[in-house]
Amino acid sequence: MRQQLSDWLEFYRELGIEEFYRREPGSSAIPATTDAAKATKASPPPATLPQVKQPERPAVTPMPRESSPPPKSVPVPGPAAQSLSLFEAPAAPRREHETLEEIQSDLGDCHRCRLAQGRKTIVFGQGNPHAELIFVGEGPGADEDDQGLPFVGRAGQLLNKMIQLAGMKREDVYICNIVKCRPPGNRVPEKDEIDTCSPFLYRQIRAIQPRLVCCLGAPAVRTLLGIKEGITKIRGTFYDFAGTKALATVHPAYVLRNPREETILREDFEKIVEFLGRK
Ligand code: URA
Repeated sequence: MRQQLSDWLEFYRELGIEEFYRREPGSSAIPATTDAAKATKASPPPATLPQVKQPERPAVTPMPRESSPPPKSVPVPGPAAQSLSLFEAPAAPRREHETLEEIQSDLGDCHRCRLAQGRKTIVFGQGNPHAELIFVGEGPGADEDDQGLPFVGRAGQLLNKMIQLAGMKREDVYICNIVKCRPPGNRVPEKDEIDTCSPFLYRQIRAIQPRLVCCLGAPAVRTLLGIKEGITKIRGTFYDFAGTKALATVHPAYVLRNPREETILREDFEKIVEFLGRK
């Protein structure tokens, strides 16, 4: 247990996360009124160490959607975003210039969670390592698992179409997922799987330093922004995220199931274009 804790602390230290708190068993959760600065220093613990608990996320106030730039954005106090904001803090030791290759090499032939058992290929991510725009989906499906690349199945084709309609090329952007291995039967990734895998995603985002992170679907929104509200309610909203911006939108697979909702995705891609000043 000691070694496990030490490994875990080292892992988060490498991410620039230095401070943790320990909630005594039986004590109440951090109140929603927790001072943001304090909450910022906390970070998500692994589910296997029950004595170190993740702070509850303070509520996020929804904001009316805006149709013209510059977008108003909502600060997000979710732990994931906080972990990333720590990289901006002068006190946080920061490994400069960590590259995607280094992160991938650290990920290795990952067996950190149970998803490794059913996967064929780790789907690390694909695209421009200096992209202004990152898309974050949920997790690889069968096609992605076969090819080792994100969004190459039907949902990927729709994403490609949206990217093209927006006047961009797939190779201009970076595409990745909350988890890098296919969940069995394409189920939604579970919390412990996300907790294990998402630090690699945060490192990818930090390495790329995009201007905008586009969260595709509820799991990405929940994980990166800590927002549990229905995706169809909050889509089209910009959020402050780790010193950059994030936009929540629906997952292309949702649009495949509900073809009439393609207009939603088109609208949100227009916002992306406006935000990036491509119009
Ligand atoms: N759906 C996702 O969320 N990610 C992929 O890579 C493919 C489909």
